[in-house]
Amino acid sequence: MTSTNAALEATRRIVGDRDSTISDTPVEVYAPSNIALCKYWGKRDEALNLPITSSLSLSLGKHGSRVVLSPATDGDQISLNGQDMPGSEPFAIRASRYLDNFRHWGVQAFNVEAQNTIPTAAGLASSASGFAALAMAVTKLHGWDLSPREQSILARLGSGSASRSVYHGLVEWHAGTMSDGTDSFAEPIDVEWPELRIAIVLLSTETKSIGSREAMKRTVETSPLYTAWPTLANRDLEEMKIALRARDFDEAGSIAERNALAMHATMMATSPPVVYWLPETLSTIHRVQDLRGDGMKLYFTMDAGPNVKLLYRAQDQETIGDAFPGLILTDSWG
Ligand code: DP6
Repeated sequence: MTSTNAALEATRRIVGDRDSTISDTPVEVYAPSNIALCKYWGKRDEALNLPITSSLSLSLGKHGSRVVLSPATDGDQISLNGQDMPGSEPFAIRASRYLDNFRHWGVQAFNVEAQNTIPTAAGLASSASGFAALAMAVTKLHGWDLSPREQSILARLGSGSASRSVYHGLVEWHAGTMSDGTDSFAEPIDVEWPELRIAIVLLSTETKSIGSREAMKRTVETSPLYTAWPTLANRDLEEMKIALRARDFDEAGSIAERNALAMHATMMATSPPVVYWLPETLSTIHRVQDLRGDGMKLYFTMDAGPNVKLLYRAQDQETIGDAFPGLILTDSWG
């Protein structure tokens, strides 16, 4: 089965023979971005974005993607942040390819107006919120009564981490074991922790040298360190859930940090190597460690890019803001 057919089949399994009542006004939805505290890195199925391990994230509240969706008359019309995207733009290609899964229920072409409240393609997970918003918008446009779990599966077909962006707060994406992906979905975990915050140290907004999809594939195929990853990732996830339930900030922060560093170590060991770090990335990491040495409650995590995300508690916001001028503060719980 080609990858396109596999995603289409998976979509059909979710939507089934539901009737569609196409909305006669544009629908609007919002999905938050998310930052993984326990990372997803490596797929067992490329076409369906089925992961090798489960992962856990914190959504970013008002930082995310808004999508306005309506039927179009003459092919897909796609805009991002108010700018029309020609069909040859990678963003438009990816969106249209995803929408190919949904042209069988009465809408042949789509008008997509996407707005991001985070820099696109800067390793800040805009594809996560973008595909989650698109999956939710398509569901709403057709009037389907899909559960959040089903919408999480549809979002996953666009981008793995999008499965987690269907929700706010702390979210676990279950890797699942089935080959059709019906048990690979995200759901919130039973922890609310309003003091837990994420801030972004924006070091670069340049498009990444290598996308996470390709980097992940290369890691699984060529990194000799990857064999250790599933065991380590499962252990981190279990310990992270215990730490979050206990509201143990130091333990949760330490696990997030070691998990991100282990992920980067596996990708640095690929051939050719994947190194997202800039000199500023390393100096930021050292700064976090130094400040922690001085007694500040502060940890970091990183994704497929050079930017560093800080984990801190709400009561320390002012001190952290002083230590990192220009910090992008987020509030996952507001
Ligand atoms: C490092 O979800 O962007 O941010 O499924 O290929 O679209 P695709 O990958 P994507 O990868 C995210 C990787 C990560 C870790 C994470 O968010 O868990």
